[in-house]
Formats: sequence, structure tokens, C-alpha cells
Amino acid sequence: MAETVTPEFKDRLLSLGLARVSEAAAIAAAKLMGRGDEKAADAAAVDAMRDQLNQLEIKGVVVIGEGERDEAPMLYIGEEVGAGNGPEVDIALDPLEGTTLAAKAMPNALTVIAMAPRGSLLHAPDVYMDKIAVGPGYPKDVVSLDATPEENVRALAKAKGVSPEGISVCVLERPRHEALISALRSTGAGVRLITDGDVAGVIHTADAENSGVDMYIGSGGAPEGVLAAAALKCMGGQIQGRLLFRNDAERGRARKAGIEDLNRIYRLDDMVRADVIFAATGVTDGSFLRGARRTRTHMETETVLMRSKTGSVRRMSYRTPLERL
Ligand code: FBP
Repeated sequence: MAETVTPEFKDRLLSLGLARVSEAAAIAAAKLMGRGDEKAADAAAVDAMRDQLNQLEIKGVVVIGEGERDEAPMLYIGEEVGAGNGPEVDIALDPLEGTTLAAKAMPNALTVIAMAPRGSLLHAPDVYMDKIAVGPGYPKDVVSLDATPEENVRALAKAKGVSPEGISVCVLERPRHEALISALRSTGAGVRLITDGDVAGVIHTADAENSGVDMYIGSGGAPEGVLAAAALKCMGGQIQGRLLFRNDAERGRARKAGIEDLNRIYRLDDMVRADVIFAATGVTDGSFLRGARRTRTHMETETVLMRSKTGSVRRMSYRTPLERL
């Protein structure tokens, strides 16, 4: 019998396909932007993303997706996607990151997807994760989840060669972060609050000169943590994440995902263990990407496409006639 050879992960060739997947989801979600219906916008993005993914020459498995199989009809964790005749890959996705932002037409809603060889992305359960991230160019572990917010600001300020007043920290605005925000402000650091969308929050640290954000801290979704790690693997930077559990059901989810040490701190290379490709498309205008927009004749999007193998970051604009949608 002939030996089956698994095709290798050709990240360069696959990346354009990934951008298409991301664009399609953003266009679908953008059609429902500002309608106040989070579920409809998310469902449209999911549908479009799945449709495009199934056209790619991959044997894909969703490892970060819309939820467990019994709670998500499509793009659930474990779902097999792709045309089924290419390399075996892990896929992490969030067809609409910032569902509320899209429903309210507020800035920074994105579609996000990452792809890497099979077995290389952390199967993070859908629980919260404590996260801390900084951009490239700092010593390893300059900031840490084991340090206090004050210590982290001072360490980063020292490494950056500024006083703590010269540090800006991005934090999700949540009641659970009140003490964190006070602690950060007590150092003199500026805190940039975001209402949603911590994948973009983390990505901002990798482009501090333009975004003005030096560090991201706080708890948010664990799946978003892995997606953010994929982006930083391409752009440079550091992230640490530790899963947070509110009850036994959540601990059970982690065990089901194969996680044994529930207190472990995951660094970037623990969350993304091989070369990865990452694409994100703006749904609403944001500080990182321009949102999808409809002209009288066309739909236009902006996508960022990155590869960790080369550290390349490509911005692509796309437009398609409205009658083709
Ligand atoms: P959704 O797109 O699933 O609504 O997630 C938006 C988001 O802000 C994420 O970016 C973040 O990780 C998470 O929600 C935070 O969760 P919570 O809103 O429960 O604090």
C-alpha cells in the first residue's frame, strides 16, 4: 500500500487564503453593523468564515472556536474544516471579536483567524485568562503575572528608559478591574480603557509607537489570549496568560481540553508552539484597522496578514462590487 505523505504547512501559500477567510467574515458582519443584534452579526460572520475555510486546501481542526460542540452549531471546538486534502492544521478563530462593538457600531470590532501546524496551538477552554503583554525589544519576562501592577509599570518604565508617567497601559473597562486600574494609576502611568476587544488591545503593544500603548493587563477570554499570542508571535513581543476558573464546570472544561496544571503561566511559545499565520480584518473603524465600508458601488475592507516565520506584516485593502455580495 502506498505511504500517505502529509503535505507540509506552506504558510506563504496559505496566508492569502486566510486573508480571504477573514475578509469574508468581516463583510458579512459589517452588513449587520449597528443593528443592535449581536447574535445576528456573529452568526453572519461565522457562516461566511466557515464557508471560506471549507474552500481552503487544508485538513483543519478548530481548536479555538465558537464554543463547545453542544453550544455552537458551527465552528465549534473540534470541528473539521477545509477541503480535506492539504496539510493538517490547527485553527484558532473569532469570526467577530467584539460582538457588542459591531452591534453598536463602536470602534475596534474585528474578525480574527490564525492557522498553524496540527498540535501547535494551545487548546484554551472558553474561560477567563489573566493576561499581560508588552511589545518587542524588551528583556525576557520584563513584566510578569506574578508581579504587582505597580512592579510591572516600574520595570517596564525602567526598560523603556522613561519614568512611570511615560507608560500607557491598556485595560478592559470592567468592575473586576477597578483595583487594577487604581494600582496602575497610582504609579503615574496612564490607563487607556477599552470597552471590549482585547485581541486588539494586546496587538497595540506590538506597535507602541503608533498606538501609544506600552502594556496590556487584565483578564479577558482565554481564546482571545491565544489569538493575541498568535499575533505577537508574528509582530514580536511577549505575553503571559494564566487561566482563571470560577467554578468546577470551568475546571472540567480545561481538563477536557487536556490541561493538567490549572495554575500554569503560559508564555507566548507555550500558546503558539510553531510558526503561525494570522489575519484580521476591521469590521468597524479602529485604531488598528479601518472598518469595512460600503460605498455606493463597492464594499471595501482592510486586512492585516502576518507570518511568524518571516515576521512580515502586510496590510491589504480589498474591494468588491456590491452586486457580487
Ligand atoms: P465577544 O466578541 O465574544 O463579545 O468578546 C469581546 C471581549 O471584549 C473580548 O475581547 C474579551 O476577551 C472578552 O470579551 C472579555 O469578556 P467580558 O466581556 O466577560 O469581560
